[in-house]
Amino acid sequence: MSENAFIEYDGNKLELETMIGSENEIGVDITQLRAKTGMITLDPGYGNTGSCASDITYIDGDKGILRYRGYSIEELAEKSTFMECAFLILKGHLPNHSELAEFDQGISEQAGLHYSMKNNFDGFPANAPPMAILSSMLNTLACYNTELLMTEHEGEAFELVVSKIISKVRTIAAWTYRTSQGRAYMPPNPNLSYSGNFLHMMFSQPFDEYKIIPEVEAAVDLFFVLHADHEQNCSTSTVRMVGSSRANLFSSVAAGVGALWGPLHGGANAAVIDMLENIHSNGIKLSDYVDAAKDKNNDTKLMGFGHRVYKSFDPRAKILKTHVDSVLEALKIDDPLLNIARELEEVALHDEYFVSRNLYPNVDFYSGILLKAIGIPVDMFTVMFAIGRMPGWISNWREMLSHNQRICRPRQVYTGENLRPYVSISDR
Ligand code: SDX
Repeated sequence: MSENAFIEYDGNKLELETMIGSENEIGVDITQLRAKTGMITLDPGYGNTGSCASDITYIDGDKGILRYRGYSIEELAEKSTFMECAFLILKGHLPNHSELAEFDQGISEQAGLHYSMKNNFDGFPANAPPMAILSSMLNTLACYNTELLMTEHEGEAFELVVSKIISKVRTIAAWTYRTSQGRAYMPPNPNLSYSGNFLHMMFSQPFDEYKIIPEVEAAVDLFFVLHADHEQNCSTSTVRMVGSSRANLFSSVAAGVGALWGPLHGGANAAVIDMLENIHSNGIKLSDYVDAAKDKNNDTKLMGFGHRVYKSFDPRAKILKTHVDSVLEALKIDDPLLNIARELEEVALHDEYFVSRNLYPNVDFYSGILLKAIGIPVDMFTVMFAIGRMPGWISNWREMLSHNQRICRPRQVYTGENLRPYVSISDR
């Protein structure tokens, strides 16, 4: 039994129950606060507010811990695959051989897109932002699956929607890239792995099959594993928010893409490369750039640094940093941006401004260098993040519905004008 909490205000004292999580996190239950006191809490950005209880992912920001369903990200990165992690995040346990084969098969069967969707792709201008196309085309899937727009969160129909979205997000991404290159769409190859098929659809030519290098296929799969879920981040909370109105899963994940697009969130991986290339091409001294990032008079940030939750190293950044080396070596690439990233990290980690604010490299700091080495264009980096995060978004959407959660509707403190009479325009 946990200790209760108390709020005292204006001579009144309200006892509030607390909830203790499986990792001893404590949540104060304020569900009755307004009814009993007329007061609400105020927490812009929700830095101190829990939106839900969840069994999916655990993060300890102070210790740099990340676990999917209790398994450490370090073990999953080393021993698992994206399909196995997707199953784990969605179902709550690691699959046995037959479960994984069935899950894999279900996803592989759904890799294609309805031929008419070609008209949608052809309708976008060549320079259309890939995240805009991705969000649009995820919603467009709803137009081709009208019989699946229900909001059940379990059963065969739900499993089919899950397979469709996890499989087709990859195809939509690849065809988005090919549209921008003016290339014909490359049909999926069901004999390839999830990540291998993605590379094939991205880079194969009609008479020139893309040669999948094992290290590259493994690096793409690792990238997806590391991005598969991350508890109640901005985009996942968006998916829950949209789903709470009982909107269908296609539109809920399409909304998640919109939230992920922002440079403070999933857009940071591309922003890191832009930052490193700016430093490289303009010969900017690293200490000068770090000083600019500390200067409150401009909006320069050290992109890929800092995190709302991690106040120590983001474990995903550590894993990516080691894998970048092996991929660049396998591809015989010597990327000057990697050296700049390393030096920038070194400068920042010894700078009082960053140290005192617990600002460390996050998942985005090295991921862009890995994607660039593989040949993914910068404007597709956040699309890659969305592909990886899809199992996490879907699992959170399902969990929210399985808890039969009410529609999300936060309150506010009004600070505008008090009542005033209308004045006709002739008297203004
Ligand atoms: C992701 O939430 C998740 O789980 C997200 C994610 C996931 O997997 O879903 O992990 C993925 O989004 C990673 C974060 C990617 N974003 C970036 O790398 C962009 C750069 N980082 C910052 O914008 C910032 O660190 C955030 C957005 C990540 C976190 O913002 P917070 O929690 O609101 O922190 P803050 O802005 O209040 O920062 C606290 C202080 C401020 O300075 P002071 O007011 O105390 O003087 O630190 C400063 C900030 O100005 N600061 C930075 C900085 N990040 C924070 N200063 C310079 N450069 C930075 N990168």
